[in-house]
Amino acid sequence: MRTALHAITDELRRLKADGVKTLSVSEESVAALRRALSAMRASSPPAAPPVQSPAARSVAGPEPVRPAAPDAKPVVAERTLPPPPIVSLPAGDKATRWAGLKERLSADPVCRDRVRPGKQVVLGRGNLDARIFFCGEAPGAEEEVQGEPFVGPAGQLLTRMIQGMGLARGDVYLGNIMNWRPELPAPVGSLQVGNRPPTEEEMAYCLPYLKAQLEIVNPDLIVALGASAAQGLLGFGRFKTLGEVRGRWKEFAGKPVMVTYHPSYILRNPTNRSKRAIWEDLLQVMEKAALPISERQRGFFLDQ
Ligand code: URA
Repeated sequence: MRTALHAITDELRRLKADGVKTLSVSEESVAALRRALSAMRASSPPAAPPVQSPAARSVAGPEPVRPAAPDAKPVVAERTLPPPPIVSLPAGDKATRWAGLKERLSADPVCRDRVRPGKQVVLGRGNLDARIFFCGEAPGAEEEVQGEPFVGPAGQLLTRMIQGMGLARGDVYLGNIMNWRPELPAPVGSLQVGNRPPTEEEMAYCLPYLKAQLEIVNPDLIVALGASAAQGLLGFGRFKTLGEVRGRWKEFAGKPVMVTYHPSYILRNPTNRSKRAIWEDLLQVMEKAALPISERQRGFFLDQ
């Protein structure tokens, strides 16, 4: 139960970081949450904060995650990570260096230790001569099984967005700020339900792997998808909501970075307004990359 409530809280935080201000929640769901909180209060000594009234159903102030009761299984991510690794690339052409990096990551004991049995650590993939480097958050359920980034629903949408830009998935490079699926305690065997955003420490640990990929690919520009990618690249605490930096050019490792929404935001808000917002950011990317832009492309999702 605690796990499910933590997953909901994390999702609310993620939505808030994505700029979502209000949510509509059915009376039935509010009642279910009240029942869950009452059950949790009854089974754990510290008092839980009350559920917001239905009238104040806003993601502006999600319930903070409270420390687990002494008998609860700790959230594994709370284990302290060692300092970020020093990642040096082997000599050779891009393919050789990428293969060496993949080997280095796969052997990293810290990453391996955080991946559930049968699941994989995930390195970015794509064109090693790509001019555009898309940086996402972290592998999800499908990615940790296949060992490839962006192969689940968000990845399929990202592929369509790339195609909308007149490119193919194979023209770009897709990476993540983090290389393993951020862990949540599994309620059933090794099956993890839900995702959570990576912590600052986790992102810092994986950053040398991202930098090494950028060094190999040497793209003209980076697209940061969502709040975690933006935080990882621009620095934790550099913005409160994604809206403050979205649609603006920033910089990382000497490369221009366009910050935009994560495709999962569009999956949760499939309106023309949110699609247009992300599309306007991608139009800026196309302009900077000197890609041809047709009138039709300029007008995508204008029908709000
Ligand atoms: N979401 C991400 O941010 N990265 C992936 O690889 C998949 C989903």
